[in-house]
Amino acid sequence: MAASLIDGKLIAARIREEVAAQVSVLKQKGVRPCLAVILVGDDPASRTYVAAKRKASQEVGIRSIQHHLAKDVAESGLTELIERLNCDSGVHGILVQLPLPSHVNEYNIISAISPQKDVDGFHPYNAGRLITGLDTFIPCTPFGVSQMILKSGIETSGKHVVIVGRSNIVGKPLTNLLVQKTDTANATVTLCHSRTSNIKAHTLQADILIAAIGRSRFITADMVKPGAVVIDVGINRIEEQGKVCLVGDVDFEEVRKVASRITPVPGGVGPMTVAMLMQNVAKAAGLSSS
Ligand code: GUN
Repeated sequence: MAASLIDGKLIAARIREEVAAQVSVLKQKGVRPCLAVILVGDDPASRTYVAAKRKASQEVGIRSIQHHLAKDVAESGLTELIERLNCDSGVHGILVQLPLPSHVNEYNIISAISPQKDVDGFHPYNAGRLITGLDTFIPCTPFGVSQMILKSGIETSGKHVVIVGRSNIVGKPLTNLLVQKTDTANATVTLCHSRTSNIKAHTLQADILIAAIGRSRFITADMVKPGAVVIDVGINRIEEQGKVCLVGDVDFEEVRKVASRITPVPGGVGPMTVAMLMQNVAKAAGLSSS
């Protein structure tokens, strides 16, 4: 039997409704949550993601400010803007869309954001809090993946989760999140990456397989244990039959014949990432007023 779909679009819409209700309460208290988004350069994928974040902000009542900087902006120009936004009490969240041009040091930029406004959860202070199990801003994609699993009634406790991809944005924080000693985690996690030998030997062990490696259709049906849950974080733009299309890191059509549950691309993890960003902005605004 084919796997049933995990509908990220639907789960994300419900989360956005909850955030909209939180935002209304904040507004009654005189706080209007505000997210500042910084985009550097003209990468088409980044432009699309930033537009999706703006649309979701409008929908839940969060004010969104966009700063679009030229791709040759000096690193100091970027840090000066971040410092201004750090000092602006009307701004609750700051997000710098990644990747940045190669002449800009990503670590310096992320570290310049005030940890209290770091709604991406990428600042080393917040990453450290996640590792330690303290309350923090959880990076939006890992947060979205864990909420998707939770809201689909999928148990993680004692399960073997195999993550493919060790990025700072997904693989590493997701590992830290799912090994937490909490009812919504308690998983045993294996983190595979491009230098893992015999990846298939690992993926075949997974009760929950999470693909976040950024390679189109990398996970094939022979790499998946029958009945496994498969979560596809990848969004790859490829040209096929003369058309540009979006495909995930999972060979969806084949893997769905083996898995029990599977996320589609698009309509899976993508909308969850945006919904969790909205939640993090509402949280930042709430903390600023308490
Ligand atoms: N680029 C890809 N994913 C993300 C994300 O979650 N946040 C930011 N800031 N940039 C990204």
